[in-house]
Amino acid sequence: MAASDVIRESWATRIGFILAAVGSAVGLGNVWRFPFQVGQEGGAAFLFIYLAFIVVIGFPAMLVEFAIGRNTKRNPVGALRAFGGKGWEYVGGIFLVIGFVLLAFYSVVAGWVLRYFFASFTGAYTADPGAYFAQISVGWDAVFFHALFMLSVIAIVAIGIQRGIELAAKVMVPAIFFILAGLSVYAFTLGGAGEAYAYYLSPDFAEIAANWQSVLPAAAGQALFTLSLGMGVMITYASYIDEDRNLIEDGTAIISFDVAIAFVVGLVVFPIIFTAGVDPADPGPGAVFISLAGAFTEIGFGWLLGAIFFGTFFLAALTSAISIIEVIVSYAIDEHGIDRRVATTVVGSIIFLLGIPTALDPVLFGLYDQLAAEVLLVLGTLFIMILVGWIAAPRAKAELAEGLEQPDRLTDVWIWLVRVPVVVVLLVSLYLAVLGFGEFLRTELVPWFEIR
Ligand code: PHE
Repeated sequence: MAASDVIRESWATRIGFILAAVGSAVGLGNVWRFPFQVGQEGGAAFLFIYLAFIVVIGFPAMLVEFAIGRNTKRNPVGALRAFGGKGWEYVGGIFLVIGFVLLAFYSVVAGWVLRYFFASFTGAYTADPGAYFAQISVGWDAVFFHALFMLSVIAIVAIGIQRGIELAAKVMVPAIFFILAGLSVYAFTLGGAGEAYAYYLSPDFAEIAANWQSVLPAAAGQALFTLSLGMGVMITYASYIDEDRNLIEDGTAIISFDVAIAFVVGLVVFPIIFTAGVDPADPGPGAVFISLAGAFTEIGFGWLLGAIFFGTFFLAALTSAISIIEVIVSYAIDEHGIDRRVATTVVGSIIFLLGIPTALDPVLFGLYDQLAAEVLLVLGTLFIMILVGWIAAPRAKAELAEGLEQPDRLTDVWIWLVRVPVVVVLLVSLYLAVLGFGEFLRTELVPWFEIR
């Protein structure tokens, strides 16, 4: 069946698109991955570069994905073909690969979240939050919760886009922000807060100069990861918009909300970590889990707050995971006419299998995570920027102009950004990321094979 034969649904309400895009953007990337990256990359130095990359790369790149999606009304593979010609299909094919790798480990982390939700009721993490994380994050228990999460994703996506995605996003979006804001007030009262704010908020430029080779690719990867860019998610979601809207306004709203959430998570996590006298690099991927479990143990009605927090965090992860699998499923439906339920079940099961190794071994987990965020998403974004900046610029400009009040200057600046600065920054990051990834393989994976 040809793509044009498929009647595409569109968002039921104007706000539906924004909520769904925010639902995709806000997820484990903000709450789990952001504090973990800040801790690994030295605090404020990372925050500073990350924020700069959100503005310089994230914003123009999001508009690029929106313009392609709304213009072509196709899944990402069909959209790239329509925009760039036949060969660009293969780039769309890379998006599908990214989706599999990304969701495989994403689902494992979401499984940890689900576990913490249940543990809030039983008090399982109260005795020793650090030991609890170590125990539940690796092993067959982790595989079990990974399975539960993938089952939830499959169930929702099999039902279809409107009911599945919009409902979940509506519940999750406001709740997560209010809980975090409340927790940041609590964190402010802690003894280590002052030290934590200095670490998190006041960048030491000497440190950036010394560590730029790891800070740059980490910040670029995190900026794309948190905004769901580089694998066609925003192309897919924008393909369901049917009216001409101001994409710049929508993009600004989505990005501001997403960055605000990550920023507040830092205001919660670091005071707790500093108060406990822990080096912020130490907890690694456990940072948010260990610190918040500690906080929920200390404060009154902590179990209830914990349950609400991990429950909403779970929903946030769910709406993001839905957006990832939707890229692959919408491709299967549009391009091959496969039934939605069949496509979702098959794709979800493969992703479940791919994730099992990452639930059993932290080194493999790190491998997927670094590969997906720092290498693949940057590569995917780079290709899309080249397509729009260099090959199909007039068409992209005309599309972005729809719905803008004074389109000319804005679209010119945008194309110029996409054409040169964004491409250069992505190339440099990608180069450093590949070097860093090679280093990771040598120092982690080779010994890993030797031990086994
Ligand atoms: N943006 C999501 C998050 O922050 C993750 C994601 C990445 C979703 C890439 C889709 C595509 O959790």
